[in-house]
Amino acid sequence: MAFLSDTLARVKPSPTIAVTTRAAELKAAGRDVIGLGAGEPDFDTPQNIKDAAKRAIDEGRTKYTAVDGIAELKQAICAKFLRENGLTYTPAQVSVGTGGKQILYNALMATCNPGDDVIIPAPYWVSYPDMVYLAGGTPVPVVCGIDTGFKLSPAQLEAAITPRTKWFIFNSPSNPTGAGYTRAELKALTDVLMRHPHVWVMSDDMYEHLVFDDFEFTTPAQVEPGLYDRTLTCNGVSKAYAMTGWRIGYAAGPVALIRAMGTIQSQSTSNPSSISQYAALEGLNGPQDFLAENRALFQRRRDLVVRMLNDAPGIVCPTPAGAFYVYPDIGGCIGKTSPAGTQITDDEVFATALLEETGVAVVFGAAFGVSPNFRVSYATSDTALTEACTRIQTFCRGLR
Ligand SMILES: Cc1ncc(COP(=O)(O)O)c(C=O)c1O
Repeated sequence: MAFLSDTLARVKPSPTIAVTTRAAELKAAGRDVIGLGAGEPDFDTPQNIKDAAKRAIDEGRTKYTAVDGIAELKQAICAKFLRENGLTYTPAQVSVGTGGKQILYNALMATCNPGDDVIIPAPYWVSYPDMVYLAGGTPVPVVCGIDTGFKLSPAQLEAAITPRTKWFIFNSPSNPTGAGYTRAELKALTDVLMRHPHVWVMSDDMYEHLVFDDFEFTTPAQVEPGLYDRTLTCNGVSKAYAMTGWRIGYAAGPVALIRAMGTIQSQSTSNPSSISQYAALEGLNGPQDFLAENRALFQRRRDLVVRMLNDAPGIVCPTPAGAFYVYPDIGGCIGKTSPAGTQITDDEVFATALLEETGVAVVFGAAFGVSPNFRVSYATSDTALTEACTRIQTFCRGLR
């Protein structure tokens, strides 16, 4: 009898975590490493949120809570959906979990059967396909290249849907490309979904607050109210409120689905940390002005990185609408040889050579389902970004 499960054989560990680990190893060995791999803001959780957590501890809010979230937080989440997205939900339609990741995972675990397909536009967040595998379903990636701004077209969505399709996962702004769908682009996709009533929509709105220029964030159930009864609108405090370590994510959708997700959570992790829930409550109900400050900061960094990467020979870097990632194409580098003599055959080799030869850590595109590219997270200081991009330029100029 094999010790490890058959399910595990279909799943690979997160490549983004692998890159971060390798970069940390090199750093520990004394190398000068700049990590552009991590997907989290580089600044601290706002003080009012930290204070709320301290208060929660002092007030003894340290016991088990309701499995899928305290009532006050569910109320705050309903208020957030109404205020920011024009979506009306009741607390019974809301689930709170240990990060956005657990929320998505619970939903897939609660609904996927063998033979169920899940449509995932690629480039995708690395965890989607593996979570689908863990849940027993089959991921169906649909490649969206640089020519369409890494965005899915209505024709591609229509062609991907079959009687086996259970979910369509939608993520805008996107990890890893930063691509954001305009209201019109999203409406064109929801029009397709309206013709296929058996397809459920999982909208991952994690980067909602990180949008630039005059981009307007929208979410499927808002753009097409006809999808409300088969949409799970997912979000969380990790990225917007610089709370990645606190592990609070949430979603709203039909009561039956929310209850089923609660059952999965009740038999696995139970409630998310009580203290983190009170912190998230302050995040959602407290002052929101730092969101605009963060947006301005990230937009400046985006512009810096896009400009510098486009100056590197062999690299084409589109300007994304949101998140804190860029996803440059490195087609012009493939087939060349690095200064230390490595033949750049694909984006994984490129990223490894870049790390080993220059100390800049990025994640290779194959991890996200579209090559040859790499992902830069620009959630780090201007100084580090300028130095990293200068090294990338030098590396690319040295390719022969
Ligand atoms: C697109 C996307 N969805 C969900 C998550 C999960 O966020 P959390 O840290 O709240 O689990 C991430 C985190 O990287 C993400 O990039």
